[in-house]
Amino acid sequence: MTATLDATPEVGAVPSFEVTLKVMRYLPSDDGSTPVPHWDEFRVQAHGTDRVLDALHKVKWEQDGSLTFRRSCAHGVCGSDAMRINGRNRLACKTLLKDLDPSKPITVEPIKGLPVVKDLVVDMEPFFASYREIMPFLVTTGTEPTKERRQSAEQRERFDDTTKCILCAACTSSCPVFWTDGQYFGPAAIVNAHRFIFDSRDEGGAQRLEILNDKEGVWRCRTTFNCTEACPRGIEITKAIQEVKRAMITRAF
Ligand code: SF4
Ligand code: FES
Repeated sequence: MTATLDATPEVGAVPSFEVTLKVMRYLPSDDGSTPVPHWDEFRVQAHGTDRVLDALHKVKWEQDGSLTFRRSCAHGVCGSDAMRINGRNRLACKTLLKDLDPSKPITVEPIKGLPVVKDLVVDMEPFFASYREIMPFLVTTGTEPTKERRQSAEQRERFDDTTKCILCAACTSSCPVFWTDGQYFGPAAIVNAHRFIFDSRDEGGAQRLEILNDKEGVWRCRTTFNCTEACPRGIEITKAIQEVKRAMITRAF
């Protein structure tokens, strides 16, 4: 047990408590042998407003500089610190320690389904390869317009939800289909295809649907909703996938 509030906090001071972080470590070997992942425990002093990312920083800066993880913005924008916290995919910078029952050790692991490079860092290349395949950019033909491409509020609303993606991979790496078949495009690629397929200015929708009509495409989704639960941006991913499936059948988009 590790979380006890200070009995006599100073007047005006934010009470602190101790938490135990149980972190999955994976250290690449120099001699060609296959490294075995193992757990390391760290005890850190934290405040109620601290996030898991703050605790990881404390470990790295004060206890073990070799602990390796990605982060950049620290405010839920860049998508670089998705990890498995207490068995659930979350952004470390958006997860408050006090919301995790700090009386028990908090487990932190790399997201699943992607090769681990070191500790909490995974190789994101397979994830971004699928993203690139669905052509995540506006496709237009004809001459460039002299004014901006106009769109009504209703047309913009059609794909508003899927514009929120920050490419954190929390969805794709929470998907059991992706765990067993790394070739599956995965929810994030489909979300980003949705963002352009339903954009009234785009002309590449039919091509994207063809790409996703692959055996590793949209039909592999088993509607488990893991992706929707994992998304830190609250995107209705399963719904978006269903809309792409429907567009594939009706060709109406
Ligand atoms: S859809 Fe959500 S969970 Fe998936 S990559 Fe985008 S922001 Fe992350
Ligand atoms: S560090 Fe950028 S989203 Fe968490």
